[in-house]
This record gives sequence, C-alpha cells and structure tokens, in this order.
Amino acid sequence: MADAGGGTYAAILTDLLDRGVIARDDAILVQFAGAFDEAVTARVGLTRCTFSNLAPDSPSSRLADGHGADGRAPLRSVSRADAHRMPYADASFDHVIGHAGLHHCSRPHQALHEMYRIARHTVVAVENQDSPLMRLACSLGLAGVYEHDAVADGGGTTGGVDGTGTPNHVYRWTRHEVRKTVASFDPGHAVPIEFHSRWLIGSDRALTASMRSAVGGRERVIGLLNGGLNTVARRQGNIFGFTVRKDLAVAQPWVGVPA
Ligand SMILES: C[S@@+](CC[C@H](N)C(=O)[O-])C[C@H]1O[C@@H](n2cnc3c(N)ncnc32)[C@H](O)[C@@H]1O
Repeated sequence: MADAGGGTYAAILTDLLDRGVIARDDAILVQFAGAFDEAVTARVGLTRCTFSNLAPDSPSSRLADGHGADGRAPLRSVSRADAHRMPYADASFDHVIGHAGLHHCSRPHQALHEMYRIARHTVVAVENQDSPLMRLACSLGLAGVYEHDAVADGGGTTGGVDGTGTPNHVYRWTRHEVRKTVASFDPGHAVPIEFHSRWLIGSDRALTASMRSAVGGRERVIGLLNGGLNTVARRQGNIFGFTVRKDLAVAQPWVGVPA
C-alpha cells in the first residue's frame, strides 16, 4: 500500500514526542491500524500501543498474524472494533491516533468523536485535505471522489466503506471543518488544534488510475511540482494532519455561570 501521508504521520508523532506532549510509554490507541502503523509507531519509539481495526486481518491492515511489520513477535495488543462504537470508557487512552482511516467510515464525524471521547490528552489524525485545487483535480478526474483500489486489493469484498466491498467516498477535511466539529463535540471547552499540511501529489491513495499512470515515470517532475507547491501553497496541501490538544482545553468562561 502506498505511503500516502506516512511521512506526515511520523513527523507529527516525532514532533509531539520531542515537545513532551507524548511520552514513549504513554498508552496509545491506534485506530484504523495496519502493518504500516505498526512500522511507524515502532520507528518513532512508541512502546504501549493497542492496534484497533474493524477487520484486523484484511489486506488493508494485516494485523492478525501476531507479528509486527518486520516479522518480530509483537509488543502490542490488537482490538477488533468499529470506529463508530468503540468499546472503551471515556479517556481510556492517553492518545488516540489514526492514519488514512476516517475517510473509510460511513460516519467520519462520529468516528472522530469516538477518538476524541476515548482520548485523555490528544487525538492525531492524518487524512486528505479538501481545497479548491483538490476539487478541481476531482472534477478533472485526476483525483478520486470514491476509492476503488482498496476494494480491488480486497478482492471486491473488503477495503471499502466500513470494511465492506463498496468503495468509500473520500471524505476530505478542511481546517474550519475540524474546528467546527471539535467545538460541537465539546462546547464546554475551547480546544486548541494544531494543523499540518503539505503537497504530496503522486502518492494520494485516491488518485485515479489515469493519474497514477501519468505520474509513473515522471517522479522528477512530480517532485519539482510538490516542491514548488510546498513553497507557495503548503497550507492547501493534499496531505493533512491535525492534533486535537484536549490536554490544553480551557473551560469556556460562561460554563458554570448562572444565566
Ligand atoms: C486505507 S486503510 C488504512 C490502514 C492503515 N492505517 C494505513 O495507513 O496503512 C483503512 C483501514 O480502516 C479500516 N476501517 C474501515 N472502516 C472502519 C471502521 N468503521 N472501523 C474501524 N476500522 C475501519 C479498514 O479495515 C482499513 O484497514
């Protein structure tokens, strides 16, 4: 599977570790987890991870063999759960992180709410960003509105919405939308959110086949294009990560004040 925003995922986690927001032995729930997440969390040095997925043994996750991505015996636990209904109490984990999974959910806001509910300190997500440029790419058929390849990889029976054989709609987020969503989850607090974005054209998992073949063999050109876009319009980048800083939430001044 392509490394859609893997560099962003590792960079965000490394930055949070460097700043002391995450400690290496904090309890982490890795939502939508796969072998890829095992490799990234191991690489950045996280030691207490619970890897959760609706279908841990599907081709898009490959968690069920009991071994880490590098074939070593696991130092981790695996949970089989639907992201919309997580079987954990509020604030069960220090951090809840997820890469390239919310857009596979039939109710992405509900799944993000579950991540927020069971996290004590932070929620980290890496997804695709919506922007005028991405909408133009979609309307020109250069980027996908629905994701077909994961279902093809799953033999037509899995890999789509909620792990089914129906290709998921690629729900792309904006910063404003994440802010509104979190404010709706937790209206009693002002919750800071950190955003990260960059252009990584050519590795978007939702690229259409025609765009992928156009990109093939043109890595140098695509590299220059990404470099240029990241210089002038990084904020609009297709790869999009956010960290919800529940640990820094401040009670709204009107909470507890009689009307
Ligand atoms: C594109 S894969 C990403 C896997 C991994 N995070 C990565 O980046 O390689 C999306 C994953 O989300 C899982 N998934 C889809 N719907 C889900 C749901 N409703 N609850 C939990 N996991 C779900 C799928 O089983 C799949 O493994």
